[in-house]
Amino acid sequence: MKILTVCLGNICRSPMAQGILRNKIKKKGLKITVDSAGTSDYHVDALPDPRARKVLNEHNIDISDLRGRQFTPDDFDTFDLILAMDEDNYENILAQARKNSDNQKVEMLMNYLYTGENISVPDPYFGDINSFHTVYELIDKATDQLLMSVTSS
Ligand code: 4NP
Repeated sequence: MKILTVCLGNICRSPMAQGILRNKIKKKGLKITVDSAGTSDYHVDALPDPRARKVLNEHNIDISDLRGRQFTPDDFDTFDLILAMDEDNYENILAQARKNSDNQKVEMLMNYLYTGENISVPDPYFGDINSFHTVYELIDKATDQLLMSVTSS
């Protein structure tokens, strides 16, 4: 299975989700790969935000190998599941869908924790380090549920 996490800049939330997920996948020995992308081109080729790296380092997760890239419709062909971090990302991805099966691959990450509530992972970019701790906690909880869901089906 191939999962893509998507936010706006691909330097805060989606690389954090990628790092958290791949860490859990490795620990569990699952056959799932994870990539991430941004709906914008603001930070193409950029390292994850230093605050995202710091918070993940505190949990022994290294994402210094990741670089920003922009989401493209080709991603619908590559990935089985596309996880939007917030409602704007969700709408932006769906607007690029070419067929119904593309639409069906897109879900909001937090719906795995709070079914059907369409809760966003708040954008931490203009916040302080605590915003990044909050993002970590939300993604950590939601990805536990996500992995339970995809491994039980
Ligand atoms: P992300 O955060 O979408 O979680 O990577 C952002 C990063 C950069 C910007 C906005 C959000 N920006 O406006 O540059």
